[in-house]
Amino acid sequence: MRDGTATREPIGVIGTGYVGLVTAAGFAALGSDVFCVDIDEGKIQGLREGRMPIWEPGLAELVAEHRDRLHFATDLAPALEHARLLFVAVGTPPTYSGDADLSAVHAVVDAMPASDAHALVMKSTVPVGTGESIKRVFAQQSKGFAYVSCPEFLKEGSAVKDFLEPDRVVIGDDGDWAGEAVEALYAPLDAPVVRTDIKSAEMVKLASNAFLATKISFINEIANVCEETGADVVEVARGMGLDDRIGPKFLQAGIGYGGSCFPKDVSALKQLAGNSGYHFQLLNAVIEVNELQKRRVIAKLQKHLGSLVGKEIALLGLAFKPNTDDMREASSLVLSARLQAAGAHVRAYDPVAEDEARKLIRGVDLASTAGEAIAGADAVVLVTEWPEFKTLDLAAVAEAMRGTLVVDGRNFLDPAAARAAGLTYEAVGRPAVNAARRSPWASAGATGPTAGSR
Ligand SMILES: NC(=O)c1ccc[n+]([C@@H]2O[C@H](COP(=O)([O-])OP(=O)(O)OC[C@H]3O[C@@H](n4cnc5c(N)ncnc54)[C@H](O)[C@@H]3O)[C@@H](O)[C@H]2O)c1
Repeated sequence: MRDGTATREPIGVIGTGYVGLVTAAGFAALGSDVFCVDIDEGKIQGLREGRMPIWEPGLAELVAEHRDRLHFATDLAPALEHARLLFVAVGTPPTYSGDADLSAVHAVVDAMPASDAHALVMKSTVPVGTGESIKRVFAQQSKGFAYVSCPEFLKEGSAVKDFLEPDRVVIGDDGDWAGEAVEALYAPLDAPVVRTDIKSAEMVKLASNAFLATKISFINEIANVCEETGADVVEVARGMGLDDRIGPKFLQAGIGYGGSCFPKDVSALKQLAGNSGYHFQLLNAVIEVNELQKRRVIAKLQKHLGSLVGKEIALLGLAFKPNTDDMREASSLVLSARLQAAGAHVRAYDPVAEDEARKLIRGVDLASTAGEAIAGADAVVLVTEWPEFKTLDLAAVAEAMRGTLVVDGRNFLDPAAARAAGLTYEAVGRPAVNAARRSPWASAGATGPTAGSR
């Protein structure tokens, strides 16, 4: 990254959630004055007072460091006055049908005044064709706005780093001043730039997320076959990942993907294809595998504990992945609901997502430490691979539990250490280790229905 202290083009950012706030802080770090707008008054007031609405590593520091270049408002006027590029980062959640809900995007479009001097730069993930239809609306209303698609690829948990060191910047535009201006803004990051048409830029985003979700569902199905055949998916993924046509990333088997992007973007692409007359068969399977994967934990618990009625189950981790407090579409939501429906009592601990959990899940006791969640549990399920769980003292875990069963939903713990601690250890796609591992060819050491309970 080159020096970001020189004064650069001011911008507006509409929507100050995960994407908007990171984008705003990132461009402020590169030297722009950034005029942030959000309809959530509490969020804007908090940001003015230095309170962060989300937990994201390094973001609070970046915002504090460049606070003088960050301006927060609930109305568009300052952004329109000072900036010609207005980045849109409002939510596009799924509707009941699985299509993307574009109502927030349309609200932003409708709020724009007539102007030949401004451009909307779409960071929100939208279906292919959205840019065309927004341009049509602008034309019908004689608003004159330019339009650029600039999809966002940041990952929660490493969003600041991803903004500052992107793999690529994708800019879809009509070849006018706005595309040039967006490219100039990103120039200090020295990232590969893909300049293309608007529809292709929109598709790059959806196709990227759908591909990554497919890779996850693929390795999860391999894991499930490993469980049937005695192979170890961790070894399999290691062997596959060294093939540079495949690569090691997104080959970690587990209890399914979640979060605010993959589930909704895969479903939005499937619906988009269907609406365009194409049946995207592969994505149906990706979605179904992911749903079933979350539920396989219940069967593993029942295999060892029998009925779950009255059983104490501890969930370690609630966020959809580590280093974020985001629980949207997290596997923990399905799991906690299914466990309660099966009659279990659930206690859960997450290092940062407790506030989110209070909003999103009912009937679960929230513990303030892992130890508190584990105490007296018949079984522990590791849901999110937070680093602090790596260093759990498994002997102390075994001592504190009522039962012995640990279901490691992310293949995160050391099976040998679990066995040494006297735990019954079930992972995803790996041989269970309550029995000594004999040879790679031996079948997984299945246990009777009551094993795992003391
Ligand atoms: N979260 C991610 O990891 C990620 C990554 C890449 C792309 N995206 C995409 O970026 C978009 C934003 O996602 P997010 O996770 O940041 O959402 P978010 O829910 O965290 O933030 C959206 C913000 O927009 C605000 N908002 C809604 N309507 C508004 C309006 N009319 N005017 C001003 N503000 C308004 C909301 O109050 C909220 O603060 C989505 O389309 C998402 O798919 C998200």
